[in-house]
Amino acid sequence: MTNSLIIPRRTFIKNVAAAGVVAAALPLFNIQAQGTARKFKIGLIGCGGRGNGAVENHLEAAKSLGLDVEVHTVADFFPDRAKATAAKYNIPPERVFAGATGYQQLVLQPVDIVLLATPPVFRPTHLEAGLNAGKHMFIEKPVAVDPVGARKVMALGEVAKQKGLSVVAGTQRRHMGNYLRNQWAVANGAIGQIVGGRISWCGGALWYKERTEGESDDSYLVRNWTSFSEMSGDHIVEQHVHNLDVANWFIGHPPESALGFGGRARRRTGDQFDFFSLDLNYGDDCHIHSMCRQVNGTYGGVDEFFHGTEGTTYGGGKMQSAKLAQLSVPEFKTHANGQVQEHIDLLNSIVNQQPLNGARTVAESTLTAIMGRIACYTGQLVRWSDLTTNTQSPWYHLALSPSPADFEAGKVVAPKDNVYPIPGEA
Ligand SMILES: NC(=O)c1ccc[n+]([C@@H]2O[C@H](COP(=O)([O-])OP(=O)(O)OC[C@H]3O[C@@H](n4cnc5c(N)ncnc54)[C@H](O)[C@@H]3O)[C@@H](O)[C@H]2O)c1
Repeated sequence: MTNSLIIPRRTFIKNVAAAGVVAAALPLFNIQAQGTARKFKIGLIGCGGRGNGAVENHLEAAKSLGLDVEVHTVADFFPDRAKATAAKYNIPPERVFAGATGYQQLVLQPVDIVLLATPPVFRPTHLEAGLNAGKHMFIEKPVAVDPVGARKVMALGEVAKQKGLSVVAGTQRRHMGNYLRNQWAVANGAIGQIVGGRISWCGGALWYKERTEGESDDSYLVRNWTSFSEMSGDHIVEQHVHNLDVANWFIGHPPESALGFGGRARRRTGDQFDFFSLDLNYGDDCHIHSMCRQVNGTYGGVDEFFHGTEGTTYGGGKMQSAKLAQLSVPEFKTHANGQVQEHIDLLNSIVNQQPLNGARTVAESTLTAIMGRIACYTGQLVRWSDLTTNTQSPWYHLALSPSPADFEAGKVVAPKDNVYPIPGEA
């Protein structure tokens, strides 16, 4: 075991600031046991693929820091999934919760950190519950499916700051050494001013589930969440948010507007598009082409590329810059796996009593993706102000249905399969 990733406080703050996650003022420290033998307790909401993966990432992060972590409690919509994860960590039945309201009991358990890995529609509600209960939070991306939800996460970021709680998001590129180095170099003028670029997440179709005989609407939506915009935000939000996050991070702010098109050709269930192509106008004559596609048998590629006035760079790859050699780019020493490093950063922030706050940046990236989705669904130009300040805009108040409250009240009506937006009509 090595403690080399326990970063001295000054270096730690510099690194996380470079990642665009804000270290807040000194926290109201709520870790239960103090001192070097501190034992952390965590809870997981959403025991699916990523939830189980995030717990393993967290345990690996803790191990690399020499910290002791107990997986204390879990919750899932489906009891069998909660029980399966509980069995792995010997969690007794009284700390295993199920159903749409199980999260309410989980956040009341004596844990320090809550990990959220449910479908995105539930993120704002579950984040609010965790922060109200005084927990540090790890929140998988994306963090909302509509503008109302994204703004709520921004507001909750302020609540976390006031309470001295960390909120670390699953946008792992912000925790990876190659991205941190390039972003630092760009921010320090290596390629001049960014004037254009292209970001993409193009690949094959994702998994989907058919409705089973007599299955309830809520069960079907939870099982087949990657097919419904109301649950996932559509794949531009669910998947492409990673690349949009890098664009916002490297350029330094979200776009002013989005215009684009998309369509549906191959999907069997749900109401999502198969592909999106967008012009993102970042102002100052900077335009980024964003494209994403989930269609089998087509050319794939996942990356980010930026043109500057004095060079070019990939997000985490090659940089062409005459200035680079003159810059003393700091070493960003990170774990080889960004999904472990984000938990190292979370744990370090708690140990160093310098809470991280990535709520705003991940909410902005989520909202950028939502802006792109609305532009493509409707065929209209959508402005950032339509989603953030212009209360007269029809999109400002957009809140998709069913909502988390509908799930909790057992009043879910699933959108129809294969009924999807037609640009110009939507
Ligand atoms: N950072 C990354 O690279 C990355 C990779 C994969 C997934 N993700 C994100 O992680 C999240 C989960 O994805 P996944 O692949 O694990 O999906 P999944 O379907 O495998 O798991 C989701 C789990 O949440 C449970 N759930 C649904 N609604 C719930 C509720 N209201 N309360 C409690 N549990 C509920 C489901 O039953 C399921 O077990 C998504 O937001 C996804 O975008 C991030």
